[in-house]
Amino acid sequence: MVKLVQFSDTHLRTTQWRHQRGFSRAVRRAGPVDLVVVTGDLSVDGADKIADLKAAKARFDRLPAPVHVIPGNHDIGEEPASPRQIQPVTKERRAHFISVFGDDSFDLALPGWRLMGLNVHLFGTGWEEEARQWNRLESAVHTRGTDRIAVFLHKPVYVEAPDEPENVYWAIPASARDRLLGLAEGGNIAAFSSGHLHQGLIRQHAGTHHVWVPATANAAREPRTHGALLMTGAAIWDFEPGRFRVRFVTS
Ligand SMILES: [Fe+2]
Ligand SMILES: [Fe+2]
Repeated sequence: MVKLVQFSDTHLRTTQWRHQRGFSRAVRRAGPVDLVVVTGDLSVDGADKIADLKAAKARFDRLPAPVHVIPGNHDIGEEPASPRQIQPVTKERRAHFISVFGDDSFDLALPGWRLMGLNVHLFGTGWEEEARQWNRLESAVHTRGTDRIAVFLHKPVYVEAPDEPENVYWAIPASARDRLLGLAEGGNIAAFSSGHLHQGLIRQHAGTHHVWVPATANAAREPRTHGALLMTGAAIWDFEPGRFRVRFVTS
């Protein structure tokens, strides 16, 4: 069995502040793990301050397990469909992120599992990197055999309902949502797990788990959908061939 902790929305920066303490608390509550993933908003303002990205990287480097990250809107800016275009995603912002963390996606093979972290801020850019990311995921789905796939991303696939009107800023663009849900059909993707909303939720749609992992930094003021938990913490995943278990720890 592989025990993985998923942190999200750590919102770290160069100087000491409460988010640093919040992250350390979540690390303690998670206990020993084999693997760490962090699903975006690693920094407070990495989109404009590379020093914030470096501070988050330095903190993650102190964890006693391998760490794999994907960016959030605070780290590389907003995708084109988002109404908040004060910090749009740009190739330069993405390059800064990659210069610090080495990549903006991950693709991990565990016994019976493939864990894929996506950069949601590529959705709708039309960049070559967006096409390459879709190709990687589609080829993973088509060649998975008996392996199962879990997909990690910063923004959730949807907020209220899988056929809701475009819910940009809070969720990924509707075109990407429809494409992901299409790929997931028939159990091809076992789980989607995201951050961004700073609240916890575990639900299922058409046989796929959809998990919203709470932030380590702070909890949202109101639930975005019925049943969402206003909490800080992390998700603990146990992966075994053919099955998984996911639960939250509170910090
Ligand atoms: Fe966040
Ligand atoms: Fe975010």
